[in-house]
Amino acid sequence: EKGGFDHFMLKEIHEQPKAYRDTMLGRIDASGRKVVLPGLKLTDDKIRSINSIHVVACGTAYHAGLVGGTAIEQLVRVPVAFDVASEYRYRSPLITPETLVIVVSQSGETADTLAALREAQANGAHVLAVTNVVGSSIARDADDVIATLAGPEIAVASTKAYTSQLIAFYLLALYMAQVRGTKSPEEVAHVIAAMQSLPEQVESMLANTDAIKTYAEQIAKHEHLFFIGRGLDYAVVQEGSLKLKEISYIHSEAYAAGELKHGTLALIEEGIPVIALATQDSVLEKTVSNIKEVKARGADVMAITHEEHVAGLLRSVDQAFAIPQTLPLLTPALSVVPLQLLAYYASLERGNDVDKPRNLAKSVTVE
Ligand code: M6R
Repeated sequence: EKGGFDHFMLKEIHEQPKAYRDTMLGRIDASGRKVVLPGLKLTDDKIRSINSIHVVACGTAYHAGLVGGTAIEQLVRVPVAFDVASEYRYRSPLITPETLVIVVSQSGETADTLAALREAQANGAHVLAVTNVVGSSIARDADDVIATLAGPEIAVASTKAYTSQLIAFYLLALYMAQVRGTKSPEEVAHVIAAMQSLPEQVESMLANTDAIKTYAEQIAKHEHLFFIGRGLDYAVVQEGSLKLKEISYIHSEAYAAGELKHGTLALIEEGIPVIALATQDSVLEKTVSNIKEVKARGADVMAITHEEHVAGLLRSVDQAFAIPQTLPLLTPALSVVPLQLLAYYASLERGNDVDKPRNLAKSVTVE
């Protein structure tokens, strides 16, 4: 049942290239230059009338929403707000019929996310669900569904659901950009082409995991560590930190790299591991400055970056791990993979029950 893997989590990490392909299947037209979303009820007129978007979810699905909502904001130029579902309806969010509410849920059964969906509908919003289970409560109640085709996810720690949620969001963002004309057909085609390379790029990363495994064995000895990043890297390290906490029980914080010096830098001391995700070219120099701040206080820094930046970064960090090159917007679909593996191998090294971490359930049906 685990297909030759020791754990469901590792199997599911390895199923990601297929999950990417399946989630794209039938949603890119024959020319390979246009996104089509068969069955979508959102009309073009409705897409043109949307003036705000709320992305609401829990846990890993929320983290996928952070990346996905950012992609929509960048490509479609509509303001996007992000909420964890357990907070959403208690803050009286401003919801109107021109609000598109996107709920994200692997299981489609998460109680808080379902309650957020109902609150949004009661206020007249169109609710679109990104979910992996088409017969779920959330899929049934939503006005629209974009299914992720990750296949069943058994491990409590979510992996392939997160990455296929990213793919679903990229498709939705491109689709909305086509309708609203915020990206030219050439720009859309360029992003689609890069998306189509992602599965193979993930395969290449999964073929060579020794460096991450060795690093995981190193961090497994620590009780605390930090992840830092800027922009989309910050969104991805939040997911990396959750994954690590969830199954290795190592305490970690994911911090916006530029925010460290506003207090948390006080916690950086000799030998503490800091994992810096530095893939976003537009803020790379700034991230390097933040890396230098933690290095100066004795941190042991591991950078994850594109191959072309490894040599440069090695002047400021202790070790670096390279991921394949893609568009900045799509990088999360690659950069999360080493973080998933890091959590997996750290959990393994600590002798934990990888697939069934303590205190947690796969589906959270209580508020
Ligand atoms: O089924 P959902 O996507 O709605 O679940 C949301 C969270 O409970 C879930 O992502 C949780 O954070 C995972 N165990 C994280 O790996």
